[in-house]
Amino acid sequence: MNVMLYMAISANGIIAKNDDDTGWISKEEWNSYSAAVRAAGCLIVGRRTYNILTKQPEFSELKDVKLVVVSHEDFKTLAPNHLVAHSPKDALALLKDFKEVIVAGGGILNASFLAENLVDEIYLDVEPIVLGDGIPVFKNKDFERKLKFIGYKQITENEIQLHYRVIRD
Ligand SMILES: NC(=O)c1ccc[n+]([C@@H]2O[C@H](COP(=O)([O-])OP(=O)(O)OC[C@H]3O[C@@H](n4cnc5c(N)ncnc54)[C@H](OP(=O)(O)O)[C@@H]3O)[C@@H](O)[C@H]2O)c1
Repeated sequence: MNVMLYMAISANGIIAKNDDDTGWISKEEWNSYSAAVRAAGCLIVGRRTYNILTKQPEFSELKDVKLVVVSHEDFKTLAPNHLVAHSPKDALALLKDFKEVIVAGGGILNASFLAENLVDEIYLDVEPIVLGDGIPVFKNKDFERKLKFIGYKQITENEIQLHYRVIRD
């Protein structure tokens, strides 16, 4: 299984404003993310991201994807193909039949996956904006992971995607 973390970030590593606003993320970025998730067929998100993402009209593009929500609690999800896991490892176990798995936020969940060394690749779509404050791409955990730069792709004239492999020790 190849675990890929996929996020849109500001040039200074913010994934949402403090009020959860992500209106600064481009349509082209969403299209790139949506295509990657549909190709993998599955997605893991944290509980806060689940509550926000599933209210967006574009979420209908991902309705057939197997979605695992990580939470400490049990709760009723919005659809039968949405499952709850109580830890990053349990989330991966629920998706063990998939060749590729996408982990996509938010900051708390991303940090849990990196701290537990569960990520193979990182894709960062860098929006051409600096945000003075907000939710960071990795939040509330102290860890260090070395990366190997794999390459980059132009998403728009003004936006690039950075691709790294995590050096797993
Ligand atoms: N720019 C982007 O590409 C992008 C992508 C995704 C999300 N976002 C934004 O990111 C923001 C949300 O990020 P966030 O950091 O506040 O929250 P989050 O990571 O989405 O969710 C945090 C919640 O997930 C659960 N969780 C996380 N790690 C866990 C673990 N190891 N074990 C068990 N449960 C765990 C907990 O839920 P419980 O409290 O239920 O236990 C925790 O409170 C939103 O504004 C969203 O729009 C941006």
